[in-house]
Amino acid sequence: MSLFEKFRESWLRPALFFGNNPVSLAGGALTTASGVTTIGYWLIELFGHVDENPYLGIIFILILPALFVLGLALIPVGIWIRRRKLHKAGQIPVEFPKIDLNDPVFRHGIDIVLAATIVNFLIVAAASYRGMGYMDSPQFCGRSCHVMTPEYTAYKISAHSHVACAECHIGAGAEAYLSAKVNGTKQLLEVTFHPLASLAPKIFPNYPTPIPSPVTSLRPARVICEGCHTPTRFDGDKLLVKSSFADDEQNTETETVLILHLGGEDSFSHRTGIHGVHLGHIEYIATDPTRTAIPWVERQNADGSKTTYVASALNGGQPQGERRTMDCIDCHNRAAHTFMTAEEALNRAMADGAISPSLPFIHKKGLELLKTAYASPEEANAKIPQQLAAFYRSQHPELLTQKADLVKAAGLELATLYNQNVFPFMKVTWGTHPNHIGHQNYPGCFRCHDGDHAAKNGTSITQDCSACHNLLAVDEAKPKVLSDLGIR
Ligand code: HEC
Ligand code: HEC
Ligand code: HEC
Ligand code: HEC
Ligand code: HEC
Repeated sequence: MSLFEKFRESWLRPALFFGNNPVSLAGGALTTASGVTTIGYWLIELFGHVDENPYLGIIFILILPALFVLGLALIPVGIWIRRRKLHKAGQIPVEFPKIDLNDPVFRHGIDIVLAATIVNFLIVAAASYRGMGYMDSPQFCGRSCHVMTPEYTAYKISAHSHVACAECHIGAGAEAYLSAKVNGTKQLLEVTFHPLASLAPKIFPNYPTPIPSPVTSLRPARVICEGCHTPTRFDGDKLLVKSSFADDEQNTETETVLILHLGGEDSFSHRTGIHGVHLGHIEYIATDPTRTAIPWVERQNADGSKTTYVASALNGGQPQGERRTMDCIDCHNRAAHTFMTAEEALNRAMADGAISPSLPFIHKKGLELLKTAYASPEEANAKIPQQLAAFYRSQHPELLTQKADLVKAAGLELATLYNQNVFPFMKVTWGTHPNHIGHQNYPGCFRCHDGDHAAKNGTSITQDCSACHNLLAVDEAKPKVLSDLGIR
């Protein structure tokens, strides 16, 4: 007997015989239907425009291929069930119905089954590859799950809006991938059971609101940030200009101009300044979960000795808490998800003209509207512009005709600022996620540089303003230095 004949006698015939059952047939139909739809979607995607809607992505890239595989699996399951049933009833035929290869209809049938198997195999391979890629895309991480809305919103307007979430949160390597998937499955369960969890919190898992920060599972910044940034290359000084507006009728503008000593590594391997001195050899213990209270800091010196700086509040005691080596994220904790304070958001929008400083009292009124709580983004979109218009109608009715466009634009921009920073359903509001860069709005650098962290040798972590920056102007109206520099 030739190989093919053997195959036909002992496999093909029984398979065809047993395969003639509702479960296997349904499986075949499911596979064909989802396979054809999936291919259709790929073709549309290849040649046409596909909506970026993440839910469509979930259906076409995750669910359809899953149905396809389910259909494939049902075929042998049906065969197995039918075989068992017939076996029990003693109805298995001695000879399976004849397969006549001379029958052209039947021969073509076999060709089709073989071809379909190869195509099926290709579809499963391509689909699982695409599914994996899709699950790593910002679309999937950020948009299909509304829990991530605050982070996704901030990410979209950050300098890293083109860096995939997975680049920072998962990184390369199979181990990272797996642990992310385990974590992700847990989160998926939390999201799925969320509606039940509010009824029976003890039984069903739920996600925390807001999502806690810091992310303790984040891989060391050396691995994630230094894949793209070379820390020692940011040498030199950086000029920073910040505008702020007052609450008076004219919204009087003042500016602060400073030169930040970013430092880095010079050609003699001297490490100086903000970027040069911290990386790799400073450890600290934070006694609270947000890493804000840092009473203990230790620096490894070039000669191998250690200098320990402790806060006076510690009174010689040993702090309890997370011990960590300082890296990028201890300063750049909001690198991809910067939430602003209401003042910052408003000052920036006024400085770049999105909210016109020519509108009387816009700073005072705008801040008041931003700091009011609205139950949902829709409510903010409706009420903020409405209340701004109402304010001008009562105080400066002439503006509603003379500067109607500016009033309208200001109202819309205020609502946008609100919705970029406040997310009531996740309990994220102004100030929920502090930013460690600087020291004006949050403790930031002053968690350590507060002048109260002293070493035994009498030195302390510096609070000298000029160690970090030269203040060229502080809250000055039209600072001369800006015109000297040719900036204004
Ligand atoms: C450039 C790197 C980077 C990218 C890209 C990035 N993140 Fe983050 N993410 C961070 C850092 C850093 C933190 C804060 C970590 C810390 O403080 O420990 C963070 C924190 C978070 C948190 C915790 C809550 C919070 O606000 O601190 C969530 C949730 C999150 N990111 C989701 C996302 C999602 C979703 C995306 C893609 C849409 C994304 N991230 C892209 C770096 C990144
Ligand atoms: C995949 C590459 C990539 C990774 C990973 C990455 N960055 Fe960036 N980052 C960039 C690029 C590109 C820019 C410049 C974007 C621009 O100027 O539009 C940038 C800009 C920045 C800036 C300046 C802009 C700003 O937001 O103030 C900071 C700070 C920064 N990155 C910090 C980080 C930190 C911290 C991490 C690790 C958590 C990180 N980056 C990870 C590519 C990356
Ligand atoms: C001690 C705090 C601190 C650490 C640690 C730190 N940075 Fe920074 N970094 C800063 C400050 C402050 C700025 C200037 C902020 C600004 O422009 O408002 C800055 C600016 C930057 C910029 C923008 C540079 C530019 O020219 O605008 C990048 C990119 C950056 N940091 C990346 C990193 C990376 C990557 C790491 C880790 C390897 C890191 N930083 C570690 C404090 C830090
Ligand atoms: C976890 C504690 C910690 C944090 C947070 C921290 N630093 Fe430091 N910093 C240190 C230590 C420790 C030293 C070394 C002290 C010394 O050499 O005298 C240092 C040194 C410096 C120096 C060099 C000072 C000098 O006299 O040469 C600069 C500049 C500096 N830090 C800037 C910053 C800035 C800017 C931030 C915030 C973005 C910041 N640091 C946040 C611990 C910290
Ligand atoms: C450990 C480093 C460090 C020390 C010490 C320090 N600063 Fe700063 N300061 C910063 C950084 C970093 C920023 C920039 C923050 C940013 O990028 O928005 C800043 C910003 C500022 C600003 C502008 C803030 C704004 O948002 O408008 C002022 C004003 C200022 N510092 C005043 C001072 C004064 C006064 C002292 C001395 C008592 C001082 N700083 C000490 C690191 C430091």
